[in-house]
Amino acid sequence: MKKNYLLILSIFLFQTVYTQNALLIPDTINDTNINLALDYGTYEFFTGKVTNTMGANGNILGPTLILQQGDSINISVANQLSDTTTIHWHGMHVSAENDGGPHTVIPPATVWKPAFTVRDKAALYWYHPHLHEKTDLHVSKGIAGLIIVRDNEEAQLDLPRTYGVDDIPLVIQTKAFDADYQILAHSNSDSVVMVNATINPYVDLPAQVVRLRILNGSSQRVFNLGLSNNETFLQIASDGGLFSGPFETNRLQIAPGERAEILLNLNSRENDTVYLMSYASELPNGIYGATYPGTNTGMVLNAYNPNPMNGADFNILQINVKVSTTNPVTSIPTSLVSVNPIDESLANTTRTLTFSPETMGLDQLNGKFLINDASFDMDVINYTIPFENIEIWELTNRSAIAHPFHIHDVQFYILSRNGNVPPVNEQGRKDVVLVKAQETVRFITKFETFADDKVPYMYHCHMLPHEDAGMMGQFVVSSNPLSVESYNLNKPEVKIITTQNKGEIKIIAEEKISDIRIYNLQGKSVFPNIEYDINTALVKNLSPGISIVMLSINNQLVAKKVIIY
Ligand code: C2O
Ligand code: CU
Ligand code: CU
Repeated sequence: MKKNYLLILSIFLFQTVYTQNALLIPDTINDTNINLALDYGTYEFFTGKVTNTMGANGNILGPTLILQQGDSINISVANQLSDTTTIHWHGMHVSAENDGGPHTVIPPATVWKPAFTVRDKAALYWYHPHLHEKTDLHVSKGIAGLIIVRDNEEAQLDLPRTYGVDDIPLVIQTKAFDADYQILAHSNSDSVVMVNATINPYVDLPAQVVRLRILNGSSQRVFNLGLSNNETFLQIASDGGLFSGPFETNRLQIAPGERAEILLNLNSRENDTVYLMSYASELPNGIYGATYPGTNTGMVLNAYNPNPMNGADFNILQINVKVSTTNPVTSIPTSLVSVNPIDESLANTTRTLTFSPETMGLDQLNGKFLINDASFDMDVINYTIPFENIEIWELTNRSAIAHPFHIHDVQFYILSRNGNVPPVNEQGRKDVVLVKAQETVRFITKFETFADDKVPYMYHCHMLPHEDAGMMGQFVVSSNPLSVESYNLNKPEVKIITTQNKGEIKIIAEEKISDIRIYNLQGKSVFPNIEYDINTALVKNLSPGISIVMLSINNQLVAKKVIIY
């Protein structure tokens, strides 16, 4: 172990000191018909050393898909691997069967053909494999690609958008290598940082306003981005959309799965060199990437330390400023797009999700980690969400390490972090949020457009070893939840009582209630206000008449008829 580490460290230092490599810019596919072929390959991360990889349409990573909102696209994903996998369109609002989650497998030598309309707002999304227990392996070996969505609103703005010239895709990843230069999955010793699969990269950028589209595609590591001279830059977008205006900062924390777009003002900076860095020394303990990954420094994460990147500042990308282009963007718009968060008062349901380690004690950082005391089960639907429901998800992290929580199908708006309004750059559209140790994050979202009783969507921690170990759950969005199979009518251990207040009922169960849905006799969802309190719940604002109450208790559905006064 120690010997491996020294070897890896010397690789790291050698590369840091001696070689600079031109940043690879992934090819693009700018078409409504998209063909992806997943296959094995080899790649020379280290001069003269052959590393076995996996890629889409090449040896490593995959082409950047450039999509236009409103377009109908047809994709063909050919699996030429000897392993089953899936491909998920992270952040995009597509139907469950097109989403590419762990149930939508692509066996070897088969082709998967999703087709959908691009409904998303202009932003940076990405695609990656999502096979249960093998997501980290397939992503770490190299399969991941960017998706740039354009829309009319963004097209109105004077922003850089010449791909690879003033609009630069950056897939930032750290990987762990063994002594034979082979990629290790499920490893906590990721000591090599790369951008677009390039170690020690440099890029020549024109002396004008330049846009960087950044994905943290790492399995686990959080970066604290900044520039080497500490100058400020402007964040203009989060995961799923542009902001209402640029947000000026000199630091940007980005967790696995998260994206950000930033503008650098390089006007009259020709011949300057500046580094994009991670100021990981400023990350508080309790985040993967800090000196200690847990808040309790006595907790040990296997093989995490020593590692030259933990809690240290390091370079990510060398930027050499060169001559400007012929039609440069030279100024930064002061306002961008309209952002329409959902008002908290519109929520029909609040769900509480608690993250905890399976075992307590100083070993707990090694997982597994549970959500509401459960590990992922392919056969259990954790929530049945009524179509068009507006929900608040309240995420509480009762573990000692931060988890980047991600949900499929939707973009959400963060309402609060520990009761406080989030910083401005977390008020836009998001699909990943880093929930710090002992923190509670609340977000609001709407489950619209797609309903499917059979194929679920996922929610999970985007630290891939955590996800693979079961820190994941699934939900279906149903427009006809009464047809969802296997519920027990009039299960005895649930009591429903009408309270003194008009239109109000109280539900008392013997076990934790994880979901309540109410329907009228026609089977149509009604959306009352529901306050959950573990095994009891108060349902308010029901209309008088007969209602059907469906409860999910301990993963079993229970249905009861009640008369509302
Ligand atoms: Cu980026 Cu469920 O994943
Ligand atoms: Cu996703
Ligand atoms: Cu996690």
